[in-house]
Amino acid sequence: MDFWHCCPRTANATMTSTSLDGKKKSAMTTDLDVIQILERDHRRMDQLAEQLDSVTDTGEIRRLYVQIVDELLAHEAVEQEVLFPAFRALSEVGGDNTLDKRMGEHEELNCLLAEMRELDPNEFAFIKRGSALLQEMESHFAREEESVFARMRAEIPLEELLALGHRAMAMKNASTI
Ligand SMILES: [Fe+2]
Repeated sequence: MDFWHCCPRTANATMTSTSLDGKKKSAMTTDLDVIQILERDHRRMDQLAEQLDSVTDTGEIRRLYVQIVDELLAHEAVEQEVLFPAFRALSEVGGDNTLDKRMGEHEELNCLLAEMRELDPNEFAFIKRGSALLQEMESHFAREEESVFARMRAEIPLEELLALGHRAMAMKNASTI
């Protein structure tokens, strides 16, 4: 996945995974299954996006924005490398295009964030995209939970979901060391 390349005018941009205070995120362990881990990500990003929509301090806006980018990149990586392959195995029969739709939504979110990266948080354009981001994230997460998570919860044994959860956490921990 190449986050910034989804948007031509930010193709040469790079992104840091270091938090603004310069501290490394601590490694996490869990016995949560993969759906619980990803739903927890969704709620955390919902909260960050809501804060982004309401704060006025420029430094705080930028801090929240960088945090959302970090969270979303790590989340999408897990979905695309761990969750979606497992879902694809369920949906191969019948030409299910759910994953194509969800991947397209990831691209839209990434483009929105990439556009925001080029703007000053004081600019109206940044604020406008921040509001759009909030709406897009909310609706994407809802659709993902309804179309992907619910089916996986119903059709994949818990032990397998837990094993996928361990892989998900391994990926997340590896990206923060
Ligand atoms: Fe997700």
